[in-house]
Amino acid sequence: MPLAPKPLVAMVSRRYIAGSEIEQAVDKVKQLNAAGMTATLDLLGESSTLEQECQAAVDEYLLILETIERQDLDSNISVKPTQLGLLIDTDLCYRNIRTLVEGARVRNNFVRIDMEDSSCTSATIEIFSRLRAEFDNVGIVIQAYLRRSLEDVKRLAKMGANLRLCKGIYIEPRKIAFRDPEIVNLNFALLTETAMKASRYIGVATHDEQVVWHTFRLVEQLGINRDDFEFQMLLGVDEELRQILVDAGYRLRVYVPYGKQWYAYCKRRLKENPRIGTYVLKAMLRLS
Ligand code: FDA
Repeated sequence: MPLAPKPLVAMVSRRYIAGSEIEQAVDKVKQLNAAGMTATLDLLGESSTLEQECQAAVDEYLLILETIERQDLDSNISVKPTQLGLLIDTDLCYRNIRTLVEGARVRNNFVRIDMEDSSCTSATIEIFSRLRAEFDNVGIVIQAYLRRSLEDVKRLAKMGANLRLCKGIYIEPRKIAFRDPEIVNLNFALLTETAMKASRYIGVATHDEQVVWHTFRLVEQLGINRDDFEFQMLLGVDEELRQILVDAGYRLRVYVPYGKQWYAYCKRRLKENPRIGTYVLKAMLRLS
């Protein structure tokens, strides 16, 4: 989005990002935990081109895992393969994520591998599969807009994968991704049903009440236990729905991003919901 001025994006970011430092992220997780929610911490950053950048991210994530344990937070971590070297060398990325999964295992914690654009899908699933053969405490994300996802969910379910399902946030060609939002929602429900029938723990990551409703329907029809799935939402998005789900007794995890590389993340949020820009502009005008 070339037209988004950085100060505007910075204003928007306050809502979606815990802060630029780990201490701010820890405070946010404490607040969420006190309000009955779990969290997943994400160190902002993607598309690393240097091994040193990847190593810095690994070091920071190890610090996060140590902090979670020391401060007794209810949080796991979410990692982006391209931040950890996927664009440099697949094996480097595998080794970096493995270090984190191992670091998480000794602390009784869990690593979720985020899914990036479709050029990364096969390599990400490959890395996950290698790790899954060795570890239980690692999960992956599948995007409902991709035409391939049903086959991926079937294959991953056989491996006993812990899945986060989401719509998918990147702009993809029609050849590989559904464009019609109704079809994406129907496919989301189909993936949820497939994973639930295979008795896999899933994170239903959405703010869309229709997707939430389809989940309720499946839970009812398939007799799914509330401990066998969780809803997941992004920090700063639809806190009202979040509260409704928590009050109704559902497990809810909030994705808490932090770090200095907030610009790319917030541009994506703004692109997804350009109305936010209008709200922010109105707020700025009121201030002036
Ligand atoms: P939809 O986009 O239809 O939004 C439903 C409603 O939610 C909107 O009408 C609006 O009111 C509100 N809303 C949605 N986005 C908003 C925003 N930015 N600001 C304000 N309101 C908003 N994607 C991906 O490709 N790979 C990944 O690894 C992840 N990981 C991930 C983790 C978690 C915990 C979540 C919740 C989401 C992701 N995503 C993701 C993003 C996901 O793919 C998707 O783009 C967003 O969740 C938006 O889709 P919804 O299902 O919320 O529906």
